[in-house]
Amino acid sequence: MTLTIPQLQDKLKEWKGCELAKNANPVLGEGNPNADIMFIGEAPGAKEDELGRPFVGPAGKFLDELLESIGFKREDVYISNVVKYRPPNNRDPLPEEKEQCMPWLKMEIALIKPKVIVPLGRHALQHFFQKLSITNAHGKPQKMNDDVTVFPIYHPAAALHNGNLRQALFDDFSALKKFLDENGRAN
Ligand code: URA
Repeated sequence: MTLTIPQLQDKLKEWKGCELAKNANPVLGEGNPNADIMFIGEAPGAKEDELGRPFVGPAGKFLDELLESIGFKREDVYISNVVKYRPPNNRDPLPEEKEQCMPWLKMEIALIKPKVIVPLGRHALQHFFQKLSITNAHGKPQKMNDDVTVFPIYHPAAALHNGNLRQALFDDFSALKKFLDENGRAN
């Protein structure tokens, strides 16, 4: 039986397979279940933990702005994270936490079947291409297989700490839009 995203959300609520689940709320992805594009961040922050939704804090506001800059709303796309629980004090997720949560991301990808996957930052990029660095690969499409292209972009939170990255993010979103237009992807 194929699960739906809401059913996956319910299952995640009962899951105890990651240590982080002891002190944080589950946050699965959300968005258009038929989206051609899937954005993947690192892990929920404080606001995401509070509301149980991905990218609804300051980084999420900037992501909304970036999406708008290329004519998208967040309802058009699917947005998720590698890790499904907030790490304490927003520290980087540990390798074992990423590994423990990975089946959830894999199930989301299997359900959404995106044509373009946008890893936001190095944690998500490393899942797809271990050897690529976000500094070198951002803004450049990487073919994963015949059906899926990975289009890495800096994490929006990075621009909140380093203003110089703000323009790089807008430029990468423009490049993403151009890629989508040239490859016939509508959302
Ligand atoms: N940063 C992330 O990587 N994911 C979120 O959901 C929020 C902030």
